Amino acid sequence: MNNYIEIKQIIKPFNKSIEVSSDKSISIRSVLLASQAIGKSKIYNLLESADVMDALEVVKKLGIKFKKFKRFYEINGLGLNGYHTGKKITLNAGNSGTLARLILGLLVNSKGQIKLIGDASLSKRDFLRVTNPLQKFGVNIITNKNSLPLKITGTEFLRPIKYTEKLGSAQCKSSVMLAAIKTPGKTIIEAKKSRDHTELLFKYLKIPMKISKTKNYDIIEIIGPSNFKRFEYKIPGDISSSSFFIVLALLAKNSKIKIKNVNVNNTRTGIIKILNKMNAKISLKNKKNYRGELLADIVVKSNSNLKGIHCPENLNSSAIDEFLVIFLVAARAKGVSTFKNLTELNKKESPRLEIAIEFLKMIGVKFKRSKDNIKIYGNPGLNLKGKYTINNFRKDHRVFMMACIAALSFGGRWRIEDKDSINTSFPNFLKLLKNLGGKIN
Ligand code: S3P
Repeated sequence: MNNYIEIKQIIKPFNKSIEVSSDKSISIRSVLLASQAIGKSKIYNLLESADVMDALEVVKKLGIKFKKFKRFYEINGLGLNGYHTGKKITLNAGNSGTLARLILGLLVNSKGQIKLIGDASLSKRDFLRVTNPLQKFGVNIITNKNSLPLKITGTEFLRPIKYTEKLGSAQCKSSVMLAAIKTPGKTIIEAKKSRDHTELLFKYLKIPMKISKTKNYDIIEIIGPSNFKRFEYKIPGDISSSSFFIVLALLAKNSKIKIKNVNVNNTRTGIIKILNKMNAKISLKNKKNYRGELLADIVVKSNSNLKGIHCPENLNSSAIDEFLVIFLVAARAKGVSTFKNLTELNKKESPRLEIAIEFLKMIGVKFKRSKDNIKIYGNPGLNLKGKYTINNFRKDHRVFMMACIAALSFGGRWRIEDKDSINTSFPNFLKLLKNLGGKIN
């Protein structure tokens, strides 16, 4: 089977209601937490993507049994000391930074040495950001140039730490939070605002924790060790997966989409805030609270009156996985858009700021870059006629999906490679696009 797709026409007007795949961040967290709970947890709507399946394989290697039923996965957690870590084990986190960084937090009390590996993309990413704080708990970590593969040996003598997380990385914050629940005493984390799914899960699981909030930082205090009981969780839709359809509907002609039951947690909705500042008028309907998370249906209509934005930097973290598609909107908007301090965008599955720049250049959008800032000169008349090939982008799932949205919105004849990459986060992406009427070969 070919591992590329071709798109040769823009999408025709559509008016549909869809459901996107389940939230990846919460799926991975729920697998890891269920593996450490006491008893059999049930996770409904678990995202069946490569990153999440890798999480299941990782906990299985650590001695945790799970079973797939029709509507849920049952994971048999053995408590905070339940991982089988006596023997030499190699864990493979595949493409997933979230899995790799979070599992390290749960290995701080391992008995033997555990090797952590990942695919080519993950092996290029920075791990110093988690090994630094984790070493302070007393664990031993040997890395290869601060990235994978690395070896971790836990300790029986964990010490609580004080840690300031300055990157706005939920992976770093969560890794330390997971280590803290195993550690006797009070761990204090001062974390720049980032997605708070781990906090909300801890709260739901009644793990002793106190949070005080300041404008840009949250101070999280966790008292360990703290075993917790089995739980049930139904994973909502993923706003990051929704983002492709939000932008497609916005840029298409005379179209409307309702994306049902999406997690619209305030720490994840940067894209909606940014696009609404660009005049998008995206609305949230049928809001409800689920275990502390806010869920809603997202309604988006086409809009040919989009305007540029000076994107407030404090929205960067809550839109970090969505900037690639936000740039497509900026390319079609009237006026100039500026996005600042996107350093973290280059630390993802691929260096996405560099990729975005290559991409904008390729489709002839005017931009200026200085350091980690980008200025995009929008063109409401942007329509493409040329031939475009997308390859060699480290199989980054979000680059593949962004390119599909660009092709269906702007026109031109496209060949987009590494179709398989969507298995990372959104296996039925192409099927959903075709259901909306996208012509994809
Ligand atoms: C994630 C946090 C973000 C995000 C990633 C998922 C998480 O990464 O980009 O896709 O689930 O915690 P950082 O923590 O590196 O910002």
